[in-house]
Amino acid sequence: MSLRAADHSKKPDNRTTMELGACLPLTAEVREGDLYIGGVDMVKLAREEGTALYVYDQEDVETRMRLYRESFRSIYPHADVLYASKAFLNKEMARLAAVYGLCLDVSGGGELACARMAGFPMERVFVHGNNKTPQELEEAISAGVGRIVVDSRIELARVSEIAGRLGVTQPIYLRITPGVEADTHEYIRTGCEDSKFGFTMLEDFAFRCVKDALEAPNVQLVGIHCHIGSQIFALDSFREAARVMVKFMADVKREYGYELTELDLGGGLGIAYTTHDRPSTINEFARVTVEAVRDFCGEYGVELPRLLVEPGRSLVATAGVTLYTLGIIKTLPNIRKYIAVDGGMSDNIRTALYDADYEAVIANKADEPRTEIVTIVGKHCESGDAVAIDAAIQHPDLGDVVCVFGTGAYCPTMASNYNGQPRPAVVFVKDGKARVTTRRETYEDLYGRDC
Ligand code: LLP
Repeated sequence: MSLRAADHSKKPDNRTTMELGACLPLTAEVREGDLYIGGVDMVKLAREEGTALYVYDQEDVETRMRLYRESFRSIYPHADVLYASKAFLNKEMARLAAVYGLCLDVSGGGELACARMAGFPMERVFVHGNNKTPQELEEAISAGVGRIVVDSRIELARVSEIAGRLGVTQPIYLRITPGVEADTHEYIRTGCEDSKFGFTMLEDFAFRCVKDALEAPNVQLVGIHCHIGSQIFALDSFREAARVMVKFMADVKREYGYELTELDLGGGLGIAYTTHDRPSTINEFARVTVEAVRDFCGEYGVELPRLLVEPGRSLVATAGVTLYTLGIIKTLPNIRKYIAVDGGMSDNIRTALYDADYEAVIANKADEPRTEIVTIVGKHCESGDAVAIDAAIQHPDLGDVVCVFGTGAYCPTMASNYNGQPRPAVVFVKDGKARVTTRRETYEDLYGRDC
């Protein structure tokens, strides 16, 4: 895998850190040239805890959790917000989600285990996944999870059998593929049926499977779910998905005389990774979603359901940053300037995988303008190992602390040990205090499992 070619038209933007607007965590500030988050000096923290280091602005996370819940509940009392824990999960994050009244979306036995260890209320746990193993299903059902989002007919039979064996009735949703594919700018209707997830609506398959779910013993079908994509800017796509889903509920009521009382519209709200991104706000997302559900329930004659959304990225991405120490500078005249940090694709695979863009600053020069364009690369044995390509940054020197913004979602959870790299610690900062909530991996952690 090679690197995206340098874009020589990109010019330094001369912005200082505080001019990065929506890319910054809530409590970011600059004091005497250093970047502070949660009242903690990122330069000192990097030197004390070592790098690479994941840092979360706890107040940012808490504020968004509160805002999400209030934005929905103030205009639609029977609404719940599920945190999609695949974005980032450790015990402390699960604890915060519980305190702020969120439900939790887990996608496997591991995330469920974390929720249990953190004491997260099981009735607020929703279990997702297109191939939950029989063992994971059994763990979930015996733990008493609130909902299992059934992804296929095969799984429906499994859930029914396991619940029967355990002597319980398991509340379930069916995951429907609504044929709405979200894009940053528009929604596309074709091609999106080709998905490994959920029940397709083609040839009325999903609709016919509702009958199976209603007839299956030991399960209670209470609602339907969809998830149309991620990093979505165009709220129209959510409205369109709501229309398809509410119409489906109306069809079920008419044909089967059965009322589905819960509607989960999934996650997907986008965030600002760069200063060019213009995502919708949490408030707008709530307003559009609720309006759509009210409109279509009215239009199709469906009782207003319990409404759920499942944000991951828009709850935690902006709160998280990654700190690195700059180790190598390599200038190739007329090609590009590389700065190499002590992490890379092992702690942030998104750049290599999705060609993602990030904003970065030098934390110890946070009040200086970003006068250079560099490509921030990692330490891994792979040319495509980049964290930020053609990124504006302050003049770099060896030993600088590089801070990359917007890494709070899908960076820790998709991290690897490539090249024997121990995964970074996770530190939560708030009110001038830093707390290690997940310690750095050790070499023993890496190879201690070998027999
Ligand atoms: N619900 C379900 C069923 C999902 O599959 C997802 C994300 C979410 C909720 C949360 O979506 P969000 O609000 O975070 O967009 N690794 C990719 C993102 C994959 C998203 C997978 N599903 C990335 O790094 O961009």
